[in-house]
Amino acid sequence: MTIKTIGVLTSGGDSPGMNPCIRAVVRTSLSKNINVMGIHEGYAGLVSGDISSLAARDVGGILQRGGTVLGTARSPEFMEAKGQREAIRNLNEHGIDGLVVIGGDGSMRGARALAEQGVKVVGVPGSIDNDLWGTNMAIGVDTALNTIRDAIDKLRDTASSHRRAFLVETMGRDSGYLAVMAGLIGGAEMVLIPEKEATVEEIAQTIEGAYRRGKTHAIIIVAEGFGIKSIDLAEQLNQMDIGFRTRVTILGHIQRGGRPSAFDRLLATRMGVAAVEALLRGESDVMMGLEGRDIQSVPLSEVVQHKRTANLEYYEMCRMLAF
Ligand code: ADP
Ligand code: F6P
Repeated sequence: MTIKTIGVLTSGGDSPGMNPCIRAVVRTSLSKNINVMGIHEGYAGLVSGDISSLAARDVGGILQRGGTVLGTARSPEFMEAKGQREAIRNLNEHGIDGLVVIGGDGSMRGARALAEQGVKVVGVPGSIDNDLWGTNMAIGVDTALNTIRDAIDKLRDTASSHRRAFLVETMGRDSGYLAVMAGLIGGAEMVLIPEKEATVEEIAQTIEGAYRRGKTHAIIIVAEGFGIKSIDLAEQLNQMDIGFRTRVTILGHIQRGGRPSAFDRLLATRMGVAAVEALLRGESDVMMGLEGRDIQSVPLSEVVQHKRTANLEYYEMCRMLAF
């Protein structure tokens, strides 16, 4: 069956680069005489029927913008069979016979649920966490890392001036990927991630060691999923004699915003084009993944079965280089 109308939605936490991906999906489809429908606010809009057609000019001027013009949401209704039935009814009502879902691992689970019920669906990984199996990079990760890099550089200026230790909390739900990479690119003394245990004593020793070796500051990156909350950790460290006084900066949602980097625009564009081409080849129940330099299709069944965790080799590398 040839596809006549493609629907596109963005779901879960937004990530910089979702817009260039939407643009690529829309313009690739239109260039092949396929209609495009934009589904607003992720699966929530699919369940409620918040769907409208997209023309070429509707996606003009969005290539450089962070966030997602379609809006995104987390939809508890879609987790239920009833919500999914509504979603499929709305797809049929709007004549959507191919769907592109841009989002994180939860969104890929949603896409899989639809595929299992006969919907032709292709996923595109969009999440700053980079915790998705099947792709080296998800859309938004590079921009988030650039934002974290800028923040660390600024914090190091003030940390050195005051001879302080800084705990810098990065996002990543239960993955330490962003934290480990931030540690490497920001020259951190230590990285605290959910994948690796560390006691307050070990952290204190690391900071004190940096002080004794004559460092003017210490930067510790704390992944939000690490066992001890960064605020509590700072409080405990400040009760100990470790040379530096400690301050905390939680980077929070700043990491999710901003203009997509060149890397993210390119990745988003290539994946958006590839997703439409995959649907037109008759592929479904797959996610676009970056493997080496190539975009390839990875079965959604594999994507949802595994979780990508932080690279512990890089974790050790960070510690070694902090000497
Ligand atoms: P992300 O895609 O960024 O990981 P979430 O985990 O919040 O974000 O998932 C986004 C949405 O995907 C959820 O709000 C829900 O509607 C849908 N979803 C997540 N997990 C499932 C699942 N197991 N089955 C069906 N839908 C799911
Ligand atoms: O999955 C992306 C992410 O930014 C995680 O890193 C973070 O834990 C979560 O979303 C925050 O979600 P919310 O925007 O709902 O607070």
